[in-house]
Amino acid sequence: MEHAELAELLQWYEAVGADEAIGDAAQSRLRVPEKTLPKSTVLPLAQGRKAEKDEPAPVMGAIEAMKEAAALAAAANNVTELRVAAENFNGLALKRTATQIVFADGSADARIMVIGDAPGTDEDRAGVPFAGANGQLLDKMLGAIGLTRTENVYIATILNWRTPGNRAPTKEEIDISLPFIRRHIELVNPAVIVPVGGAAAKILLESKEPLARLRGKWLDYKGTPAAVLYHPEYLLQSPTQKKAAWEDLQMIQAKLKELGAL
Ligand code: URA
Repeated sequence: MEHAELAELLQWYEAVGADEAIGDAAQSRLRVPEKTLPKSTVLPLAQGRKAEKDEPAPVMGAIEAMKEAAALAAAANNVTELRVAAENFNGLALKRTATQIVFADGSADARIMVIGDAPGTDEDRAGVPFAGANGQLLDKMLGAIGLTRTENVYIATILNWRTPGNRAPTKEEIDISLPFIRRHIELVNPAVIVPVGGAAAKILLESKEPLARLRGKWLDYKGTPAAVLYHPEYLLQSPTQKKAAWEDLQMIQAKLKELGAL
């Protein structure tokens, strides 16, 4: 194949989201598998040994993975321990395809915790939530009300691993990740929680309402005031919504002042 053709093929792979090599050998989709494993998104518990080459991965059920996630998360006494637990947890197959864990950024002492749904390509590369253009806009938005990652805001994600091709996380993946983010919030104990984007808002606030109906008012996350923000990616595509986002930011700023947190 000519160089130009190869470059074009690579561009096409990237465009469809196939931008990570997940194995050394090409997989034939036509070959009938020797052994059909039950359909699952989860990996076995770490068993203290490396799998033999070509050994099929034994499967842990989603329920088992959720229980394991809950036990690990509950045992973490601080954010550092939680990060280690999340990083060592083998109950999510996403860990295999992601480059690295995306856990949190900013100051864990902050009174405001901003939470996104799942890392994308930029976050997977950088290892921190809200990197790239989305992150730049989010930083600008937070900066407008006196919040910076280096000083007084803490940013985390519900899923700690990028999904292949940035597809939407499955319900199973969300359920397995929930014990970690719930414990994360408990340990940080912020005065205010800000889910960013419809997906994060619906998951954390256990709501089916669209973001447009959740925004602009104070909601409750287990006794902590929560206010949602439009996702920066949406604002980049729909700049007319920036006015509403600015109103939401001002509402958050007023609450932080009222609570003596800003
Ligand atoms: N959404 C993003 O764009 N980035 C994150 O890190 C989390 C959610």
